[in-house]
Amino acid sequence: MQKITAAITAVGGYVPEYRLTNAILETMVDTNDEWIRSRTGVEERRILKGEGLGSSDMGAEAVKELLAKRGMDASEIECVICATVTPDMIFPATANLICDKTGMTNAFSYDLSAACSGFLFALTTGAAYIESGRYKKVIVVGVDKMSAIIDYTDRATCIIFGDGGGAVLLEPSEDGNGVLDSIMKSDGSGAKHLHLKAGGSVKPATIETVTAREHFVYQEGQAVFKFAVKGMADVSYELMQRNNLTADDIAWLVPHQANLRIIDATANRMDLPKEKVMINIQKYGNTTAGTLPLCLWEWEKQLKKGDNIILASFGGGFTWGATWIKWAYDTN
Ligand code: UT7
Repeated sequence: MQKITAAITAVGGYVPEYRLTNAILETMVDTNDEWIRSRTGVEERRILKGEGLGSSDMGAEAVKELLAKRGMDASEIECVICATVTPDMIFPATANLICDKTGMTNAFSYDLSAACSGFLFALTTGAAYIESGRYKKVIVVGVDKMSAIIDYTDRATCIIFGDGGGAVLLEPSEDGNGVLDSIMKSDGSGAKHLHLKAGGSVKPATIETVTAREHFVYQEGQAVFKFAVKGMADVSYELMQRNNLTADDIAWLVPHQANLRIIDATANRMDLPKEKVMINIQKYGNTTAGTLPLCLWEWEKQLKKGDNIILASFGGGFTWGATWIKWAYDTN
């Protein structure tokens, strides 16, 4: 009997309307379009505006699109995992709120926190539920409203991040398509280089933490950059090696969109030409857990059944990883 794999059978995505361009950022902090483009590749990012809106609202939109595309009723979904570091609230889980907003009344749901690698870690987790035979319809969401935790007076971070996310549906496949292999890594010693200081159990919110701007992302850019270049490239290369995949075998690299220079380094290490690399950092910036599903969403129509796709990420934690999937459907 053919092994059961977890195939992605539908993709949904959502980005907010408002475009925060480099030109607008020039009026907010001491920066310029040329610096941002050449150092990061970002030209604009989307920002979720509006009172009372959070990550769950974007996640719910992505899920609604996905269900409509697949022609599936929300009540059929059995499990929802939402990767996010910007939950609507510390609890309940954003995944629960997404279920409530979309009518996924029969699903159990929870959040997974692994920063920029959140979507990959959640995809692996969701795939394991399918491979075990325990569930047949699992949704994995990757979404972040980074504008909620970015300091728009800090030019080193506010130029990179944006809001948005996407969702994929996982279903069992017996034709050898789907999630085929993953390498996932974490290293908590990297926390000192990238974290959010206050609002957790160690340093609950006080007037002092707010005044000290400790509820915003703290990032030592250069240190993170060095680890990211090595981490993402190494793990992607290792995944290729252990599965005897050459650059010719790979149709697409789907890299986390943190910095164009990190993406280029990973593609070079894998010997992949730029035409095989999904890049939309110029439009959306770094949406943390949202980058990978947003790429799949944008490129969905170009993907063909049987395409070998490598997804790769690096982010806060540190967390990093790479996943090999064989695409399971043709869109047209
Ligand atoms: O997704 C989560 C994981 N995160 C990442 O992967 C991010 C990794 N890091 C990066 O992408 C880059 O380190 C940054 C984009 C954050 C910064 O780029 P960089 O090339 O590493 O710049 P830098 O921090 O080394 O700063 C170089 C110079 C400094 O000036 P001096 O000291 O050389 O005079 C900065 O003050 O650029 C200055 N600078 C800026 N100038 C104009 C820093 N930010 C800006 C800015 N505009 N926005």
